[in-house]
Amino acid sequence: MNFAATQLTSHPAALLGVNIDHVATLRNARGGRFPDPVAAAQLAVEAGADIITFHLREDRRHIRDEDVERLKEAMHVPLNFEAAVTDEMLGIIERVRPEHVCLVPERRQEVTTEGGLDVLGQFERVKDACTRLAAAGCRVSLFIGADPAQIDAAARAGAPCIELHTGAFANAWWDQDSAAMAAELDRIRAGLRIGRSLGLQTNAGHGLAVWDRPAPHPMQSSAAAIAALPEVEELHIGHALVGHAVFVGLRQAIADFKAEIVRARTRD
Ligand code: PXP
Repeated sequence: MNFAATQLTSHPAALLGVNIDHVATLRNARGGRFPDPVAAAQLAVEAGADIITFHLREDRRHIRDEDVERLKEAMHVPLNFEAAVTDEMLGIIERVRPEHVCLVPERRQEVTTEGGLDVLGQFERVKDACTRLAAAGCRVSLFIGADPAQIDAAARAGAPCIELHTGAFANAWWDQDSAAMAAELDRIRAGLRIGRSLGLQTNAGHGLAVWDRPAPHPMQSSAAAIAALPEVEELHIGHALVGHAVFVGLRQAIADFKAEIVRARTRD
């Protein structure tokens, strides 16, 4: 099934923001320095990433404050700093001054950002944050569901950009549920168009994946289906990209360790 291929022609490709949070998750599992998310960000750029995305969570479960400082120092592509709308985060962002900020909802108990920001429900707070961060020179994006009322509120709050949450679509893809995928894709496409009609930059992300082995595949990947929508200007992808690296990189990793072990007793 190819959901949106007819729209592909004449639009430049969406930019790819590589989210490096889960390189830090892996590092933090052992509490040491490896694998280093900043080294991963540098490799990501060498491999074609247009933007480096990271989420400094309130509980610092993956990216930490010192990672942010090091990213700011080392990277020469735009940084997209995802953060909750809290005074602590706004203060850090004003000091670091990343090119892009994406304001997200955050709950301590969640395993990932489960839904979009409720802009309507905290309109003044979000509007103030947009004003503060614009004054710091950041392009502000709001991570929201494809809900017309939230998209309209994002525009009224003064955000120049929205990122629509693709998690429900991605889950339907993992389930290979064509009906749910089609419904979610329609919702996202309609949301993107509303955003565009309000003059917003329209991005998308969350949960998107590619197939972990060569074709033939029963369906277009979830990343491809969303990337094919011409209104999508940037995609921000993390967990499945790091997961994919396990499959495409594990063979080489084992070969490197095996070679090192064999060489260890053959050196004179
Ligand atoms: N976009 C935003 C705003 C996010 O919060 C996240 C997760 O940190 C992503 C994209 C990437 O989602 P995933 O890791 O599922 O690809």
